[in-house]
Amino acid sequence: MNKTVVMATNNADKLREAREILSPLGIEVLSQRDTGIKVEPVEDGTTFAENSEIKARAVFEALGGKYPVMADDSGIVVDALGGRPGVYSARYAPSGEECTKLLSEMEGIPDEKRTARFVCNITFIDTEGKVFHAEGKVEGRVAHEMRGENGFVYDHIFLYGDKTTAELSPEEKNSISHRGAAMRALYKHLEERYGD
Ligand code: IMP
Repeated sequence: MNKTVVMATNNADKLREAREILSPLGIEVLSQRDTGIKVEPVEDGTTFAENSEIKARAVFEALGGKYPVMADDSGIVVDALGGRPGVYSARYAPSGEECTKLLSEMEGIPDEKRTARFVCNITFIDTEGKVFHAEGKVEGRVAHEMRGENGFVYDHIFLYGDKTTAELSPEEKNSISHRGAAMRALYKHLEERYGD
């Protein structure tokens, strides 16, 4: 199996988590910056799968098949808001204001109606251009206030049980997270299809 994958992202947190999850499995994750390419595809899909494929294809084409590529499109889906912000999670509010905006939209909504999930869709494209998707989810609730020092953005208000995912250690978060689930499903596929 080719043990090096380029991740189509400029998001340092996603890259860090991908490395935490995949390096113990023997897969080295390069960033698109590591490869010297610069692409900024327009994420105009309406689903996580469409957007992850847009990002993966843009980087795959720029690299000309030199490496396999994976892209992660992810977000938080809040039931009381009809699924928002969903695929628009990155653009929901100015950077640093996402949690306060979501908490204010959720004001007055009782615990049992605060259900939400993190979703992550990964597109993997092998060096021959074959495309594979893996998706992972984690169910939780929107907290009433921000808590925790780990993680990023919505982790401070996403309750998994009675802790926010920002209160979990990186290992604990990766073991239950949408990204962990999607990346482990991708790894299983790689093992089955390409062997060791
Ligand atoms: P994307 O780059 O369009 O996939 O946007 C992903 C956005 O969803 C991130 O910028 C975060 O706002 C949010 N998000 C995705 N995964 C997580 C997570 O694990 N924790 C917190 N926020 C996340």
